[in-house]
Amino acid sequence: MAPTWLRRALTVLLAGGALTGLVAAPSLAAGAVPGAKGAGDPYFPLQGNGGYDVGHYDLALSFTPSTGRISGVATIAATATQPLSRFDLDLRRTLAVSSVTVDGRPASFTQPANLGQELVVDPAADLRAGARFTVVVTYAGVPKPVTDPDRSIEGWVATGDGAFVVGEPQGSPGWYPANDTPRDKATFDFHLTVPQGLFAVANGDLTGTSTAGGRTTFDWHEGEPMSTYLATASSGRFVVTRGVTPGGVPYLDAVDPSQVAQSRPQLAELPAMVDFFSSVYGRYPWSSAGAVVDHAPSVGYALETTTRPSFDSAPDELTLAHELAHQWFGDSVTLCRWRDIWLNEGFAEWSSWFWSEHTGQKSAQQFFDQRYATSARNSDFWNPPPGNPGSAAGLFADSIYDRGAMTLQALRTEIGNDAAFLGLLRDWHAAHRYGNARVEEFVRFTEQRFPHLTGLPHFFDVWLYQPGKPTSW
Ligand code: TRP
Ligand code: ZN
Repeated sequence: MAPTWLRRALTVLLAGGALTGLVAAPSLAAGAVPGAKGAGDPYFPLQGNGGYDVGHYDLALSFTPSTGRISGVATIAATATQPLSRFDLDLRRTLAVSSVTVDGRPASFTQPANLGQELVVDPAADLRAGARFTVVVTYAGVPKPVTDPDRSIEGWVATGDGAFVVGEPQGSPGWYPANDTPRDKATFDFHLTVPQGLFAVANGDLTGTSTAGGRTTFDWHEGEPMSTYLATASSGRFVVTRGVTPGGVPYLDAVDPSQVAQSRPQLAELPAMVDFFSSVYGRYPWSSAGAVVDHAPSVGYALETTTRPSFDSAPDELTLAHELAHQWFGDSVTLCRWRDIWLNEGFAEWSSWFWSEHTGQKSAQQFFDQRYATSARNSDFWNPPPGNPGSAAGLFADSIYDRGAMTLQALRTEIGNDAAFLGLLRDWHAAHRYGNARVEEFVRFTEQRFPHLTGLPHFFDVWLYQPGKPTSW
């Protein structure tokens, strides 16, 4: 390690640039250096940040659909994981920051033009490793959807009467400042203010509403830790239905009036789906359930926003089951790096097949057989292999879903005993509840559990990693 004087000098040099106020503050934190501007995911190098861990987000957001403008105050409680001279949050530059405080003291900040989603915060005093601190960011603007490498959009998507808000894989900094890595899970409070007559829905439990001056504020609380990409704050005209599943899970559905009739039969199944997956995978991991069914045709997909998946239009039965299964696989056990997407999508897709089987419709093996008949020449069906999407553009390729679910169905056959196979999935969830995991960990977990299945390494290699149609395993 360099001597202190050298480290200090380096800190000042490294932190230089447009920032002010650094040189004067005597360092209270020996060796304080800037936190990294990314969390190390090769698919999204600037996503997430280094040097701290968020415990809680409190997001007060006011939205006016007629202008498209949001104004927000984000209060973020975090812990420094290294001595910090400065740190970044992720926030798109379409949202202009007007002030930042750290522990109540004004901090200087920049939103560098060359780093599209970094909000660089320079606190008045360095932070010690282990220090708990509170950042308050005040910001406003007209949020724009974020476009992904696969050309899909997400983030804050205006719908005319409100907004449809989804964040996978990188949309959250399009509407709130976050440490936007799936590995930094946190609890959330939301205070969403919209014109009176509209409804605003976020994750977790609705804990209060209040109306003043023609605007209504909806307070939502998510008390279990979740990844930032799973937050939502959709609003608009919604028909709201509340209930409790027979198994005791409260739910709230918010449905755009244009989608009520088309989604009624599927939403009628939601309580049974939540209870079924609870019986198979273990107790429902969240304090409430439900769905947001909006009308946002430009999005083109659904997302497993925690507790209350978001649908851009009335879902079919399998899609609803898929998103509800994500509450265990994706939302509770979350991928570690984006290349681990199979742990989310393969598991949710297989679960939707299993729901079909459970209800006396097509069996998971029939789903498998139909897909397995696909020609090996159909490269887009078989590639990329689910264990390695190759790049961000491959994250939501059909093969991640179809071949990904086939991998689990083939594993079920390999294990040859449903109690043992379902026990594996249940214990996998229990082992990583509210945490993160990698594909390799699932492989090891399975191999250690079934040591007599000596062909498993070959099986996983063929199904998860080898390009092309698996033909022998
Ligand atoms: N994870 C979503 C689901 O399958 C899908 C999703 C999120 C998606 N972002 C996307 C699909 C972007 C295509 C493009 O439930
Ligand atoms: Zn999915």
